[in-house]
Amino acid sequence: MTDSSFAISGASIEMKTQIGILGAGPAGLYLAHLLHRAGIDCVILESRSREEIEGTIRAGVLEQWVVDLTVQLGLGERMMREGHFHSGVTFQFGGQRHHIDMEELTSGKRVTVYAQHEVIKDLVAARLAHGGKIVFSVQDVQLHNVDGDQPKITYRVGGDTDELRCDFIAGCDGFHGPSRQAIPVVDRVEYQKIYPFGWLGILARAPASWHELIYSRHERGFGLLSTRSPEIQRLYLQCDPNDAIANWPDERIWAEMQLRFGYPGWTLIEGPIFQKNILAMRSFVCETMQFGRLFLAGDAAHIVPPTGAKGLNLAVADVLVLSQGLEAWYRRGTREGLDNYSPACLPRIWKGERFSWYMTTLLHLDETEGRFEQRVRMADLDYVVHSRAAMTALAENYVGLPFGN
Ligand code: FAD
Ligand code: DHB
Repeated sequence: MTDSSFAISGASIEMKTQIGILGAGPAGLYLAHLLHRAGIDCVILESRSREEIEGTIRAGVLEQWVVDLTVQLGLGERMMREGHFHSGVTFQFGGQRHHIDMEELTSGKRVTVYAQHEVIKDLVAARLAHGGKIVFSVQDVQLHNVDGDQPKITYRVGGDTDELRCDFIAGCDGFHGPSRQAIPVVDRVEYQKIYPFGWLGILARAPASWHELIYSRHERGFGLLSTRSPEIQRLYLQCDPNDAIANWPDERIWAEMQLRFGYPGWTLIEGPIFQKNILAMRSFVCETMQFGRLFLAGDAAHIVPPTGAKGLNLAVADVLVLSQGLEAWYRRGTREGLDNYSPACLPRIWKGERFSWYMTTLLHLDETEGRFEQRVRMADLDYVVHSRAAMTALAENYVGLPFGN
């Protein structure tokens, strides 16, 4: 392995590494660990502090292969101990509940509920313990010469402008990061859909009310009951994406949850809410995932509405493919893997986009749609929970599609 090298000129630091990674989200951190395993040197630049990234509440559901990869990388000890393994989910609509047995329908695959910020904590700690370099709280990040042979990233920490020279840049900096913008607009092929609804998400101190996730389609809108631990529950409500969280005092949230999950003989257990926020929803794909020596991965390249629980899983899939291309480049001097990065990733990304869009339109109430479409959604739901073929299709997407065709 080549170590990152440092030089200090005046007050600025110049570093050199093989892969400059922007962003310490799931994409950037999994990539750093995959590269470390392959003996490739990298440096991560992250615009937020360690406390901030370890405290941001987001995803919860991990596909089986992501859990397996995490264990193979030696990072799964706490995940296996504290994660919750779910063999099925419940769909609720029209006053009925229906169990979908994912494990049986997919010959043994399950999903794991383990919070994204816990994954982040595990990956950051292990990276630093192995001597990996993560520079937190960088500002004014700029990418240079991405279509030349010697790209570099400049950034500020404190008052100084520092520089990271590298062979390749991995843009793992999420939807709002600068990497995608470094590709000229004329070269970018992008697709987008904005949804007319959002999610209000909460964390509450309460015991679990049900043994698995409930996806509920209700005449007042979608609801999702998930979990984090035996003491902490994660719930979501469909809401207006432009609504202010101040309009949602805790009593209103619980009253709405009670309506959307209400079921005879069953009680939704309430508790103190200690985190709440509203998020908008979009589907987005930038098919130009490579430009010269810049590679986009994860939310920097594509966004899904969260209903299908796919975003983090797709981010890890991208960096797995990218790490294989980089390994082939450094080990064998072949560049097919790198040149083939976008076409290798996109078919599976589009399937994740399709599934996320499908789950979203199936389960949410879209007031911009006509009454006819709403009846079609109900027919679709009825079909999904009664046809083994339809249920199997849903299950194989939910637990994670295989790589390749
Ligand atoms: P991010 O997590 O956005 O990480 C990007 C990082 O780059 C951030 O840390 C950011 O601070 C940093 N950055 C930004 N700008 C710069 C810069 N200029 N310089 C350096 N660093 C920068 N996915 C699932 O798979 N399963 C789920 O159950 C699921 N549930 C979700 C629930 C919710 C409520 C939400 C909001 C999302 C959910 N997702 C889920 C999606 C998942 O959270 C994202 O897809 C995932 O975070 C993408 O990872 P990423 O590393 O690509 O991007
Ligand atoms: C969670 C998030 C999702 O988007 C989803 O589909 C299921 C669970 C969660 O945060 O637990």
